[in-house]
Amino acid sequence: MEMEQLVALCKRRGFLFQSSEIYGGLNGFWDYGPLGVELKRNIREAWWRDMVTAHNELEVPSGAPSAYEMTGVDCTIIMHPQVWKCSGHYDLFHDMMQTCRQCKKLFRADHIGEMLKESEWVNSLATAMSFGPHDKLLKVDGAALMKWAKTKGKKVAPGLALVRKPEVTLSWLAEHVAKDPNTPLTIAELLQYIATEQLNVTGPQIPCPLCGGDLTEPREFNLMFETYTGAMRDDNNKTFLRPETAQGIFVNFKNVLDSTRVKIPFGIAQIGKSFRNEITPRNFTFRSREFEQMEIEFFCHPSTSHAWYKYWRDLRYKWYVDLGLASDRLRLRDHTKEELSHYSCGTADIEYAFPFLPPGEFGELEGVAHRGDFDLRSHMEGKLVHSGESLVVELDAEGKPRYRGSGKDLTYFDDQTREKYIPHVIEPSAGADRAALAYLCEAYSEDEAPDENGVPVKRVFLKFHPRLAPIKAAVFPLVKKDGMPEIAKEIYCSLKPHLNVFYDEKGAVGRRYRRQDEVGTPFCITVDGQTLQDGTVTIRDRDTLKQWRVKKEDCLSEIKERLKT
Ligand code: GAP
Repeated sequence: MEMEQLVALCKRRGFLFQSSEIYGGLNGFWDYGPLGVELKRNIREAWWRDMVTAHNELEVPSGAPSAYEMTGVDCTIIMHPQVWKCSGHYDLFHDMMQTCRQCKKLFRADHIGEMLKESEWVNSLATAMSFGPHDKLLKVDGAALMKWAKTKGKKVAPGLALVRKPEVTLSWLAEHVAKDPNTPLTIAELLQYIATEQLNVTGPQIPCPLCGGDLTEPREFNLMFETYTGAMRDDNNKTFLRPETAQGIFVNFKNVLDSTRVKIPFGIAQIGKSFRNEITPRNFTFRSREFEQMEIEFFCHPSTSHAWYKYWRDLRYKWYVDLGLASDRLRLRDHTKEELSHYSCGTADIEYAFPFLPPGEFGELEGVAHRGDFDLRSHMEGKLVHSGESLVVELDAEGKPRYRGSGKDLTYFDDQTREKYIPHVIEPSAGADRAALAYLCEAYSEDEAPDENGVPVKRVFLKFHPRLAPIKAAVFPLVKKDGMPEIAKEIYCSLKPHLNVFYDEKGAVGRRYRRQDEVGTPFCITVDGQTLQDGTVTIRDRDTLKQWRVKKEDCLSEIKERLKT
């Protein structure tokens, strides 16, 4: 599947639109249309039900060290600014960013290599010079470079040193080749030479993927969106849109303990919007600036935390498989030590090979992290930093805590063992939008099916798991006469209070089936001539195209039974 096909289907059938599209759109923001909103709601509801309300605290689930309780919260998006100072987000939640000196565009430093591979001017140059991305060049055709610089290059790479100062730039290149005529030049090296005006001053430059211009040194860029509460727009009133839902759970840990009878081990779940001012939002909804997270903070005794980490990692992976991400495009990957976040002593990512990624590459769907006691201690004592193997409160020049914690006691007292301790935390943190995108990618299918005249034609269908399908069943009268619409409407009305169903009587029935296949409706119910005689209707399965007959009054039980799968 080409990503463009899915993007086009999502717009055509009302799954996803660019935010504020009529004004040219806003980069990194997406709206869910009438079918998209149902898909995302179904994902959220499946997650909440499977993780929270359907969890049975009286039984020990397979693979779990013991039985456990689950509960939930729904916290505000804007929280006390001290939350973000103690959590580390205020100081540490940044990406390295580079700006193009020519076109002034910003780039995430770690995205530039990938963007250069897709860059219009690099591809134009590659075509003109007949080289591929992995080639190594023993000879560089200076005349062809000069010609490109003075023609196409002027249009597509106006900032490139080769275009602005071709003679100087080519002289550096010639010098390099003359120095070592037998060592081939890689494409990355070639791009750096043609981007460099003053080699002796700056060294080889990495070019801007958009205009070829030279980039500034990488600088830190905090990803939190700032806003102000109250009338005064000064630093005292500066607040932030939350970049994760997790912190709302940590700061309510004591409230949940005091207001319920939960006992450790237990988890608190939350679903809600998070905001990150991503420098390069890209790949459809994968990296957005406003997105939804589904997070659990699971509190346990430190001695059992590793067993709980493994349990959650495997449970969360299985959740995706059970809902249809069953192919080898899904994988579970443990982080290396170098990859671990500042708080984590063990993390695994659940990843999906999204079609917009190069072959063999995977994108993160969910992270499952062992966060130790970092968060509860930070909100109790103040922002923590590593000192050797241990975490200590970070101090300022005067030896006072750099960011003061709440001072509240967030320890847990076990009244059976009489032990008082700071619980350890396992955090499965998923993105509802990334899950929706992965399910859309996985569901996209093509095959051949007979049209209304029995001729095989290409069919596009979304093979959603029935729990996630936006519409569960469509009801059609075969033709718009002989009392068929009346019976079909009666069935539709009987299903409507229980399921999201769709009624359609327009056009040939084959075309109606196709429209439902394209949006992933698992079942179509058709009232036909035989219904008038024996009161049965056909039910058609989206994936197998098999049809069978049931009594019209059994439609609800039949569909409900099949939706359970
Ligand atoms: N509390 C931990 C945390 O927030 P994260 O890996 O930064 O961890 C968790 O985010 C999940 O949130 C990711 O696995 C992803 O599904 C989703 N997510 C993060 N940034 C996102 C973005 N810019 N756009 C869409 N989803 C995002």
